[in-house]
Amino acid sequence: MCGITGYIGGKNAAKEIYEGLRRLEYRGYDSAGAAFTGGGKLTVIKREGKVEKLLPLLGETVSHVGIGHTRWATHGAPSDINAHPHVAGDIAVVHNGIIENYAKLKAGLVESGVKFLSDTDSEVIAHLINKYYSGDLLAALQKTAGLLEGSYAIMAICAGEDRIAVTCKKSPLIIGYGNGENYCASDEPALAGKCDEITVLEDGDFAELTSTSVNVYNGDFRRIMRGREPNLAVSVDLTMGDYPHYMLKEILEVPQSVVRTGTAFASVEEKLKDAFKDVDRVILTGCGTAYHAALVGKRYFESFLKMPAETETAGEFRYKNPVIGGRTAVLAISQSGETADTVEAARLARERGALVIAVTNSHRSQLVRLADVVVPVAAGPEICVAATKSYTGQIAALYLCAATLAGGELNEGKYRALSHVAALAEKVIKNSDVSTVANMCSRSRGTYFLGRDLDYALALEGSLKLKEVSYVPGEGYPAGELKHGPLALIYNRTVAVFIITDKELAVKCENAVEQVVTRGGKAVVITNVDGIVSKLPKKVKHVIRIPKADKYLSVILAAAVVQLLAYRTATVLNRDPDKPRNLAKSVTVE
Ligand code: F6R
Repeated sequence: MCGITGYIGGKNAAKEIYEGLRRLEYRGYDSAGAAFTGGGKLTVIKREGKVEKLLPLLGETVSHVGIGHTRWATHGAPSDINAHPHVAGDIAVVHNGIIENYAKLKAGLVESGVKFLSDTDSEVIAHLINKYYSGDLLAALQKTAGLLEGSYAIMAICAGEDRIAVTCKKSPLIIGYGNGENYCASDEPALAGKCDEITVLEDGDFAELTSTSVNVYNGDFRRIMRGREPNLAVSVDLTMGDYPHYMLKEILEVPQSVVRTGTAFASVEEKLKDAFKDVDRVILTGCGTAYHAALVGKRYFESFLKMPAETETAGEFRYKNPVIGGRTAVLAISQSGETADTVEAARLARERGALVIAVTNSHRSQLVRLADVVVPVAAGPEICVAATKSYTGQIAALYLCAATLAGGELNEGKYRALSHVAALAEKVIKNSDVSTVANMCSRSRGTYFLGRDLDYALALEGSLKLKEVSYVPGEGYPAGELKHGPLALIYNRTVAVFIITDKELAVKCENAVEQVVTRGGKAVVITNVDGIVSKLPKKVKHVIRIPKADKYLSVILAAAVVQLLAYRTATVLNRDPDKPRNLAKSVTVE
């Protein structure tokens, strides 16, 4: 979603805001903008496109108070006009979230003679603050927030005032404390290296920042103290190094994501066992790639614990009136821990008495704050919009949960098994040549991923990754379903990628491969099953071999291959895999 950041202090706010926005660009890159105050004036700079477009425009701007925004468009197409900040009178505003009742608010303002410039929901905020402003910016923001429905993190400045007023509801907002300067941002990465301590605001909080003070108020507008925490983003390396894209860098970090998740899990093991004592059913939920990890996790719980396990995408779960009892554990899986549907699904599960387990890569997220137990995914910051190392980290975390709860040999061997597969993943990433297949996919009219059981779960992820970064259409399907419909799509311009890592099911997939080549389709096989190559039809020219591994963990090796394939296909087609069109990381709106 959108990223927002603010600065007030002795440095040049233009530089601070620009740096912050660059670090938040993974949250949206449809447009970027900033507003500054100084000398009683408001300066606003905004452009459609990526943050770097602001750089020449910032030019000589020298100010000590500023707010900035990088946009993922929801209401109103990407354009200069719809870019934030939005201005009304002397007020400038940046907003992350969605104002659900904006149409009604806008109609009221229009009736009273207010002229709107943009098609956004956010512009109403600027006009309302302007309407209520009579010398106290925070009070005007408070009045405005009382009228808003939906989700928001808002920063506002006013010409002639040396302060930033902020508030949030269902959208993250963090304050960073410096020496003679203060920051605010939607996410920690914006504050990396900027300050030692931060406060994560809670839903309904307000705050007023000057260069030397930060006053926080709760929803009743009573002054409160919120705890400070160390700014962990300080030590994190967010640079791309020598890699051409974050996506490639992050795929190369897949082995580390598995190993580090293993190390981090040790601290939560006992708590998890304790919390699970009375559980007799699990529901795994998440969105997109995290949901695909849930599908893998379901099989771990069923196979290792013989426990009924269900999956549901978070967006469905929260609206289907789910049947949940006190003996149900809901595992909410999310890289960011901020995905609106996943957070709300977890909240609902909690309200209905379930044990809520957050499986997340973000240790200060909303999801963490409402979970009973947090199972860490230690993939490290993921900047590329497409999830890669966080997916394998999630699988490792779910494997560890199920193996721990199952006890016995599985429990005893779990860390060894993960280290082994991580070492193999290293080799897979180094040795897999996917360039020929990437060329085929780039020219195809559709690329379909097929597999059975765990390989089917990965087929869904392989397909999502490919379409997300390369825009090549396709689908993931259970191999057995091919003949029940999708076979109609197979001809000489389509590619079918089979994932075959389960020896027992290999023979069943061979039939599906046969069906594809018979219809003139191009078949690709990713496998670690011995002897399969000799049994495949002669027309299968492309076999990507991965090493033999634990039946339940081979999915991690094949995941690295499908991620590389998606990456290479995107680069063949000259797409930017780090910033796929129309997408953003961390979907904090419904
Ligand atoms: C796909 C992708 C998305 C996310 C989804 C959930 O590559 O990145 O499908 O997996 O938006 O995000 P998190 O895990 O942050 O909840």
